[in-house]
Formats: sequence, C-alpha cells, structure tokens
Amino acid sequence: MARLTLENNQNSNEYMDPKSFIENHKDRLLNELFELLRIPSISADPAYNDDVAKCAAAIEGHMSALGLENVEVFPTAGHPIVYGECLVDPSLPTVLVYGHYDVQPADPIELWDADPFEPVIKKTDIHPEGAIFARGACDDKGQMFMHLKAFEILKAEGDVPCNIKFMIEGEEEVGSMNLEPFIKEHKEKLACDVILISDTGMIANDVPSITTGLRGLSYVEVEVTGPNRDLHSGLYGGAVANPLNILAQMIGSLHDEKGAITVEGFYDGVEVVSDEERALMAKAPFSQEAFNASIAIPSGMGEQGYTTPERTSIRPTLDVNGMWGGYIGEGAKTVIPSKAYAKISMRLVPGQDPDDITEKFTKHFTAIAPDSVSVKITPHHGGLPYVTHTSDPAYQSASKAYETTFGVPALPVRSGGSIPIVALFEQVLGAKSILMGFGLDSDAIHSPNEHYGVFNYFKGIETIPYFYKYYAEGVD
Ligand code: BES
Ligand code: MN
Ligand code: MN
Repeated sequence: MARLTLENNQNSNEYMDPKSFIENHKDRLLNELFELLRIPSISADPAYNDDVAKCAAAIEGHMSALGLENVEVFPTAGHPIVYGECLVDPSLPTVLVYGHYDVQPADPIELWDADPFEPVIKKTDIHPEGAIFARGACDDKGQMFMHLKAFEILKAEGDVPCNIKFMIEGEEEVGSMNLEPFIKEHKEKLACDVILISDTGMIANDVPSITTGLRGLSYVEVEVTGPNRDLHSGLYGGAVANPLNILAQMIGSLHDEKGAITVEGFYDGVEVVSDEERALMAKAPFSQEAFNASIAIPSGMGEQGYTTPERTSIRPTLDVNGMWGGYIGEGAKTVIPSKAYAKISMRLVPGQDPDDITEKFTKHFTAIAPDSVSVKITPHHGGLPYVTHTSDPAYQSASKAYETTFGVPALPVRSGGSIPIVALFEQVLGAKSILMGFGLDSDAIHSPNEHYGVFNYFKGIETIPYFYKYYAEGVD
C-alpha cells in the first residue's frame, strides 16, 4: 500500500489549520449539531421511527453537501444506514469512519433539567467553556458529527490525504442487529485499511486517552414462576415459594464473598493481563475519592484483588439492570406474586464468547433454581470483546494527532463499555478499529442531562484531520 510521503506533499506541516477553521465557523458548527440533536432518533421505541428516518435523511443531506460521493441511505429490516465516500486515489490507504445517529430513550424524562431534544449550552465544573446538554450530544451524534466536520476542513483546505468512507448507522443502541448482514453483503464497498470511531471517552480534558479495548456483552432476561396466580400473602404466605424472594436469593448467589462470579465456567479462558500491562494501567491518573464523590457513593466495591479501573476494564462483570414483579404501585398490597423478572447483563473480556457465556449462565441459573419454581431464560443481544495494540501504525497516527492538538501524549486505556460491531468489523472486513473518543465519563451518556463539552466537540474536529494526515504519511 503506497503512502503519501513528505516529498510529494511538500507543505505537509502547514497544509492545514483546523484550529483557525473552527474559530471562524464556531457558531455554525454548533448550530448544525443542534439541528441533529433536535431530532429524537430513539431507535428502541417504534413511536420514533419517523424521527429516526428523518435523522438518517439529515445525515445524508450533510454528506451530499460536503461533496461526498455515492451518498446513499440503505434501508434495513430495522433503521437505515447512511453511507458516503471520498475516494481520492486507489494507491492511498482507506479509512472507514463508523458512528451512530440513533440515541437512547430520554427516560426518566422528569429528571432532565430541560427538554432532552432542545439542546442548550451550560457551564459545568468540568466544562468551564460550556457543554451541550441534549440526548445524543456525546453518544453519539456530537462525536459522529465531528467526523463530517473534520472532513469539511480537509475539503476546505483542498487536501484529502487518503480515501475516506463514512458509514453511520441507526441501530447501535439496540444491538446493531442489521449492520452485521449489511457489512457482510457490502464487504467490497466497505473495504478499508482501518476503521475510525469516536464513540468512547477519554480520561480528562487535559489527560487525553485512546481506547484500546472494549468489553463484550451477554444480556439475558430471566423469568421465575411460582404459583399460577398472585396469592393472598396471609392465606398462602409461608407455605408457597415466593418467586421474588427466590429470584433475589438466586441473584445474590451469583457473586461469592470475594466479589467473583459463581456461574460455572464463567472465567474459563479469560485472558490474564500481564503484570506489566497492569502496572502501565496503574500509571493513568485515577482517584478513588474523586470517583466516589462524582457518583455520591461512600466507597467502591467489586472483585477482590483488582483496582477500580481494572474492575471496569479488564475484568468481566455480572449486573442486574432491572428487576420487577408483584405489587409496585402506591401504598401496600399483600400479595405473593406469581412471577418475578430480572434483566441481567454480563460484560465480557477477551477470551470469553457471548454465546458460550449465555449458555453457561442458562445452565447455571436453571441448576440453582429450587424445585418450587420454574425458570425461563431469554437471551437478548450480545457482542464480542475487542482489543487493539499500541504498535498498530493507525494507533500511532492517532497518538501523534492527539499530541499535536493537546500538546501532551494520549494514554492507551481499555474501556468498560461495548460496541459489539467493532469485533465483527475485524472478523468480516479484516480491519482494526481505532477508537478516538472525546467524551468524559461524567458526560452522563444514557442518563438524564447527557452533555458533551464544547471544548471536546471542537477538539475532536481539530484532532481528526491530523489522524488522516499522519496515517497517510505513515508514522515511523
Ligand atoms: N458509545 C457507547 C459505548 C461506550 C461508551 C463505550 C463509552 C466506551 C465508552 C455505545 O453507544 C453503547 O451504549 N453501547 C452499549 C451496548 C449496546 C449493545 C447497547 C453499552 O455499552 O451498553
Ligand atoms: Mn455510542
Ligand atoms: Mn450508547
């Protein structure tokens, strides 16, 4: 693969000035993002299907306006995928940019300080320059849109240093079920040397980091059934299995006293992270006190023998996301419920396979159920974990880009979150993904009052063009 050399790109060092461009177009760059944030593209709720389609059309409009070619909205069995490309020279490397325009539901809506789909800029302690408050501001409209605006800079400067393809989907928040068949069907169209994604975070605005790992996911729903109808808890209580009591006990038994997960075979094959890598991880700034304070907890907890950053990145977890059954209305109703339910997620690390874990969980959970109840387990979406290496030239290019715009080197960090399609990109397209995320953990993604720093938005737009430049030139 030929790379652009310094010789054939004489002005390499001054060939672009993203900072000035951003300075000169600040208001427009914000207003264009605001327009996208006003569209409630909630992929999980069919009531918003028209808005999701409207958002896809808006992205298509931006791609066409930027002069991208072969811009197309591909319908799927679910929400559409928007594609556009700029192919400058087949001898140059090709970067595929991936992002998502769908967002999580805004509930609980009453906990928002303002309308989740009417963006406002407000200052916070962490974002003294202001942050954009809206659902999707950080995850992922704000971060995805940085890429289109970074491309605008390349175009404006008259130098697109490599081939760039954009694929923006509308179903990431619901498991990307229709993206897998799409990438399999369009392998040629999506052929690339590397994939570039901004859908993760960094340590702090003055401590940039690049995500080198994502956890996988296995998600199941369990249903425990006792008696065939809800019963009077006085007449029957004490003599009948209460599915809620039993479910609570069963869930309680899924961790041992050392915080380890008891599901039979759960840790089989889990890649052991070397002491060297753990020592390197420990160098990233982290304060347990600040962590506790930021989410108002008296102390942390988790698997014995691991630090908080390790527990949220290199170790697998099991968590109840929701649990219900019986009477949950106003006041008291004396009842033994017929059924109890829980939604359980397991975050996975390299060496674990979501289907295998789902199977192991199902076996284990069925085995620990007492004879007095029956258990039904329904698997939801899942995803494979992912790791990338800092020796990868694309990683090096990203690293150099951060150093250029932040003035300090970026730290490699494994994230606890999941983007299931990333491992599939590697399997199907044979390309690694570089995760250049600019969000902060405190940005409240998926939560009420989600926001994205104005600094982060502009810094992302400023940094991305340098990635292309260094990647096309080749970093030593
Ligand atoms: N962008 C997030 C994932 C993320 C956020 C990774 C921050 C690392 C740091 C993504 O949109 C997301 O929410 N993923 C889901 C999984 C998906 C299958 C619903 C997740 O991690 O829960
Ligand atoms: Mn996301
Ligand atoms: Mn998300």
